[in-house]
Amino acid sequence: MNQAVLPITGYLDRFSARPGEDVVARISLGTVGPYRVRLVRVICGDPNPDGPGMQFQDLSARLDRTLQGRPQPIHLGSYGLVPKGPARSFMASCTWTVLVWTAHVGGAATLLSDGHLRIGSDSAGVFAELAGSNGPVRINTDVPLRPRQWHRVWLSADPSTGQLVIGQQAAGSPDIVQASDQLDGLRLPSAAPVMFAADTPSAPRHHFTGKLEAPAILAGFVTDWSAPLPPVLAAWDFSIGIPTQVITDTGPNACHGHLVNIPNRGMVGAGWTGKEMCWRHKPQDYAAIQFHDGDLDDCGWAADLTWTVPPDMPSGAYALHLTCNEGQDHIPFYVLPNRTGPFASVVFLASTFTYQAYANHARGNADAAYKARATAWGASPYNPDDYPIYGRSTYNRHADNSGISISSRRRPILTMRPGFLTFDDARGSGLRHYPADTHLLAWLEAKGIPFDVITDEDLDNEGPALLAPYRVVLTGSHPEYHTPGTLDALQRYTDNGGKLAYLGGNGFYWRVARVPELPHIIELRRAEGGIRAWQAEPGEYYHQLDGQYGGLWRRNRRPPQMLAGVGFSGQGKFEGTYYRRLPASYDPNYAWMFAGIDGEIIGDYGLSGGGAAGFELDRADPVLGTPTNAVILARSENPPASFVTVPEELLSHLHTVSGEEADALMRGEIVYFDTESGGAVFAVGSITFCGSLWNPAPANRGFNGPVSCLLENVVRKFAGQT
Ligand SMILES: [Fe+2]
Repeated sequence: MNQAVLPITGYLDRFSARPGEDVVARISLGTVGPYRVRLVRVICGDPNPDGPGMQFQDLSARLDRTLQGRPQPIHLGSYGLVPKGPARSFMASCTWTVLVWTAHVGGAATLLSDGHLRIGSDSAGVFAELAGSNGPVRINTDVPLRPRQWHRVWLSADPSTGQLVIGQQAAGSPDIVQASDQLDGLRLPSAAPVMFAADTPSAPRHHFTGKLEAPAILAGFVTDWSAPLPPVLAAWDFSIGIPTQVITDTGPNACHGHLVNIPNRGMVGAGWTGKEMCWRHKPQDYAAIQFHDGDLDDCGWAADLTWTVPPDMPSGAYALHLTCNEGQDHIPFYVLPNRTGPFASVVFLASTFTYQAYANHARGNADAAYKARATAWGASPYNPDDYPIYGRSTYNRHADNSGISISSRRRPILTMRPGFLTFDDARGSGLRHYPADTHLLAWLEAKGIPFDVITDEDLDNEGPALLAPYRVVLTGSHPEYHTPGTLDALQRYTDNGGKLAYLGGNGFYWRVARVPELPHIIELRRAEGGIRAWQAEPGEYYHQLDGQYGGLWRRNRRPPQMLAGVGFSGQGKFEGTYYRRLPASYDPNYAWMFAGIDGEIIGDYGLSGGGAAGFELDRADPVLGTPTNAVILARSENPPASFVTVPEELLSHLHTVSGEEADALMRGEIVYFDTESGGAVFAVGSITFCGSLWNPAPANRGFNGPVSCLLENVVRKFAGQT
């Protein structure tokens, strides 16, 4: 694999902190040498010369240090490790066995290792390697495993005769494939480390991508798997402790172990009956663990810097700016206000779950034109396409084509950087997520609207109390990923008089799981329905971490319309169109939002795809939960030719869920409603809306134009400033 690393990069132990709390930085350099770390406030992360430009406030008076750095390694690939396997006589015969399923046939890998012995698979079939008195020996079956079928694999060895047998048998097949050999001086391991899906505990390697189930070590030489088997020395049951990183030996020696790099658990196993779709109801059907050579949990780097957020530090978006002779990087984080305030009226809810879901999304689009633009603009020069070592996103797949369902934030995240370009956008900057949301932050700054910042993770940890001080909550451009905790908190907020401005598209869409034991991890299963980068396999729709049904919130009976009034309906390439005002926008009850706006067209310009209604569009739908008192103030027109209706709206080539023509559903709508408690929701239903807060037209350049005017009217009114 490409092992290229950045000249300097790192990660923090958290995305956000309050004054008085510590932020721990873990830094790695390409080579040993000095580097400088200083604090900046992030005002704008858009390097487009037609936009506001990259803007940082230098805070080196608060933090500016020069330190010595060095490379810190990353070990990709999940595996199981039993520190000490069963003790046994070196000369007693023995059998190792495991059930194997892989879609990645041909990848040379270790299935199970025990001390110096390993059982693996490659394009020539299943093999075993072990040591004899004349050096290492390898035997193999010469028959590849069948893709996506369960097999029993075994190695039997008898030191007294030197006999070795490696075997495999596909489930449901009577055919046993075996190879045998004779090895003088055969010595078998005892009380050695046992590993699953890798070998060599000191430097794990030969990672396997596929499922393993029921590994066991038996005290005897097995020749017939249908006959009574020898006594068990160790037998690991992966259906025990599915939400955990613990693996349990049910044998007499209790050789328990643990998992590294969070492989997938709760996966359909060899004995799956189909009688239950949830692993909690029949864990024995889910006794498989799916390992991948690209899995990554916490990089585990040593700490280089611990910095305490000063007590007078204002809430906002900040970054550690790292520089060394060879390059630079920014590691972003947010500072929350003190628990006791003071609080601004307005709070920005940073979509950190979404940033994390997209972390290091390799799109394969960092071509010469992309790189030329990045260079010309002084954008972040590092694209995940070129740096697989930092792990991929939940939009990417593993080597076996299965989707990546786990994302860690304890790693360098190249996409979550000021100045990171997602697309070579012909009509704009091509920003998404973290840098795209700085359009909103820079706009707030320019308009002189004070704001605090909190994150998805804070909201999930702390619940509704975190929102209680605020009159207005602003989302970013794409608050797509939510836990039950974040959705509940936002719903409670608007139900109790809070005012929510949903300033994105395709929000509140996917359900993610978190658990306290792994605070830096989100999990998602791309279950049935929705626009998906991959699909979870049938029977594997329940999260391993919390046991809940994953997938779309819509399929969890909580469509986005229930909270936000609008929900995902149309999608296309990263390009945008405009909205046209509807009669409700002239109604005296709502016309205040449009004060100062001339004409009917809203946002036929912008830094994201060239239009305020673009890329991913949401619309109102009472059947899906849009409140009956909601009004549609404006609607997008003329969707670009690349747009499609989202699959969850389509029933057949003729019919849609709503009954409307499919093409008519490719629209975004600006919606407003009051709640009974005096709260309100303003929703724009488009990812590119915030890109149009800035008007790049030379005659009107700046945070000017109908989009800026509309949002300023809404935010000031919500904040009680008018
Ligand atoms: Fe998305």
